[in-house]
Amino acid sequence: MKALGMNVSVDAVGNLRGFLAGTSPTAPRILIGSHLDTVPNAGAFDGILGVLLAVGLAESLEGRKLPFAIEVIGFSEEEGVRFGVPFIGSRALVGRGLNSNEISKAALRDDVLGYIEFHIEQGPVLETLGRPLGVVEAIVGQNRLEFTFSGQANHAGTTPMNLRHDALAATAEWIVAVENQAKQTPGIVATVGFVEAKPGATNVIAGEARATLDIRTASDRARTEALDELIRQAESIASRRAVRVKWRTLLAQNAVAMDSFVTEQIEHAMRKTGCEPHRMASGAGHDAMVLADKIPAAMIFLRTPGGISHDPAESVHLDDVAKALECGQHLLTQLAASQEFLGRTCRA
Ligand code: GLV
Ligand code: MN
Ligand code: MN
Repeated sequence: MKALGMNVSVDAVGNLRGFLAGTSPTAPRILIGSHLDTVPNAGAFDGILGVLLAVGLAESLEGRKLPFAIEVIGFSEEEGVRFGVPFIGSRALVGRGLNSNEISKAALRDDVLGYIEFHIEQGPVLETLGRPLGVVEAIVGQNRLEFTFSGQANHAGTTPMNLRHDALAATAEWIVAVENQAKQTPGIVATVGFVEAKPGATNVIAGEARATLDIRTASDRARTEALDELIRQAESIASRRAVRVKWRTLLAQNAVAMDSFVTEQIEHAMRKTGCEPHRMASGAGHDAMVLADKIPAAMIFLRTPGGISHDPAESVHLDDVAKALECGQHLLTQLAASQEFLGRTCRA
């Protein structure tokens, strides 16, 4: 970004930002980006591809100025792996969820026209349809929680089976209940992706076990009802086994619609690129869902070979990346010529 003459900084919450000026110093800006962080044992494209496409778009202007500035943004902490809480970087921009005085310095000002994010689909839909690119109309809601079951640690050799308060066995029973409940409820996906037992030794009955829950679906009401049911099941399993359970919420995020104007503009841009757009919901969370709270946000998906993501096998086709870049170039040209778009300002 420095080589392109952009003004590069790291903001108060760790987002990497590169500013490319527009035609005038007072021109409003659009944000284009995605996240820099990833999950353990990840692939090489989730997040970072969208940041590089944003830099590629800035580069493709070859010094040409637009009636808006472009701010490339590489968000910190989208996945929630490091601190358990996702979207830390994008939440700082919209003033949500953080209370440090410093972090408010990352907040958006009222000169932002919108946010555009390129991202791999991370699922099989576009590949199945044989389409290189997709356009996101909505991002499903999600809750993330941490459950802690507490029993009594004891000797694995001397404690009879009927006199145990095994926190890990209670957790295991609940994990299977989570899977069964999600399978019985159309549209719900629920995942326990992390579990830890204490003290964690072969010959010790676990006194405490911690497990995370990630639950998603397009309907906020269905998601909330399913979550309430899973909490009831945790309580009932704990009570039958005479262990205790408590939980804390790490994220409660409703489903979010993308901006309809920019989404239509993306469809035009895709057609100009020779790609028939496919409208779809995103089951994965994205920084765009947080920014949509305050500014028009829109997303372009790239086909994901095999639908594999959050795994080293994650990949993209080079041709699709070239098409995404071309689509972005058409989009910027269209937006630069749109009085409707240029007349908008941030609701922040
Ligand atoms: C982000 O990858 C998510 O968990 O949806
Ligand atoms: Mn991810
Ligand atoms: Mn991602």
